[in-house]
Amino acid sequence: EIVKRCRGKNLHFSNFIKENIEKADMIFISVNTPTKEKGLGAGKASNLKWVEACARQVAKYSSRHTIVVEKSTLPVRTAEVIKSILDSSQEEILNNNENKKKSFDVLSNPEFLSEGTAIKDLLYPDRVLIGGDNQRAINLLSNIYLKWVPKDKIIETNIWSSELAKLTANAFLAQRISSINSIGALCEATGADVREVSRAIGSDSRIGSKFLDAGPGFGGSCFKKDILNLVYLCEYFGLKEVADYWHEVVKLNTWHQKRISKLIVKKLFGTLTNKKIVILGFAFKNNTNDTRESAAIQICKDLIDEGAILFIHDPKVDPKQISLDLGISPIKNINQEYKNDFNKGIWHFAENISEAFIGSDAVLILTEWDQYKDINWFEVSKLMRKPSWVFDARSIINPTSMKNTNINFWRIGEGLLNEDNIFF
Ligand code: UGA
Repeated sequence: EIVKRCRGKNLHFSNFIKENIEKADMIFISVNTPTKEKGLGAGKASNLKWVEACARQVAKYSSRHTIVVEKSTLPVRTAEVIKSILDSSQEEILNNNENKKKSFDVLSNPEFLSEGTAIKDLLYPDRVLIGGDNQRAINLLSNIYLKWVPKDKIIETNIWSSELAKLTANAFLAQRISSINSIGALCEATGADVREVSRAIGSDSRIGSKFLDAGPGFGGSCFKKDILNLVYLCEYFGLKEVADYWHEVVKLNTWHQKRISKLIVKKLFGTLTNKKIVILGFAFKNNTNDTRESAAIQICKDLIDEGAILFIHDPKVDPKQISLDLGISPIKNINQEYKNDFNKGIWHFAENISEAFIGSDAVLILTEWDQYKDINWFEVSKLMRKPSWVFDARSIINPTSMKNTNINFWRIGEGLLNEDNIFF
């Protein structure tokens, strides 16, 4: 809707790179910065090849004073790299005795939008962060935001603080999730309930109530990548203990995903061979079709390795994407009496949830889609094979709806008081 409203007025799309760079006063670099797959820093450092390519094009085609804004999430001190590429173009001009008058300012203006709520986050941001060393350039960028953002929400810092604040914000958010998931595991072991613990600690205004929902582990394209980037930076600057500290946030997340698949195997008598498990949700969170780093990927792979027959449902994710993520193609046209003669795990894309439940041994909820909140478990229990299990890794089911169903019900972070967990 926003694009429709603005296109052709103050929003234009073009692939005439040279002409548009020449005319621009301000250029935002908003390209991908994925984790490097090979070479120095592989697996942790960011791959800056696209940022560098952009800087080179800006250096080549700009014709006057240009403000270059880093919008992509970047390791600290990337502005220096951009600046040196831009400055070297000035040297070239001088060496070639060309008459062009170009100069540059580099600003950092990181993005804090979340998927699924990006437009709301853009219109009503908690803050806008602008890092730079030239006040005039900072003011020019601020003026754009001031059209809809109150002045007190615009934070000005030096360029390195701004770059580091972006990585730190994501690291802190991810750390909260690993923290609450770790406490969830302890709740399960001790008879406490992680929802009650979250509510109790979240009402302390110093802690705050957001981002305290235990789940199957954080996913998305940013948290893991940004923390690993932070870890790499700390290692680079010789801060091993700091690097180790942040690395644990990612390690705990991986351990937690494995914990869920192991727990399912254990509850289903130690084997999943030929057992049918319905997976509800594959996206890394609701209201998006994005599966990057989704906890569902690792958990489903583990269940398939154990020989399970998975019926995977997601209202938005394309089955082709699930194939790519799991690295195996689905079995099509499967019927309810399907016998898994291969003795190895398989998966099928479930278009219709009600049909998928027929003959299933377990249901596992991995994404908190609204439509899963209204499932009539009493009716579902009649379709499942006994003993049947529901594993709610998102804590979206109201436990009272499980009463009188004969379903064994497990919720993330809910401990049951029994003799096993009385330790004194
Ligand atoms: C995240 C940040 O929230 C944004 O501020 C940031 O701009 C963005 O990364 C980015 O750097 O691009 P996003 O990846 O869209 O946004 O997703 P989040 O809403 O942060 O959720 C991340 C993961 O944490 C999801 O898997 C979600 O299910 C999980 N989560 C979140 C929990 O398990 N519990 C919670 O309480 C909250």
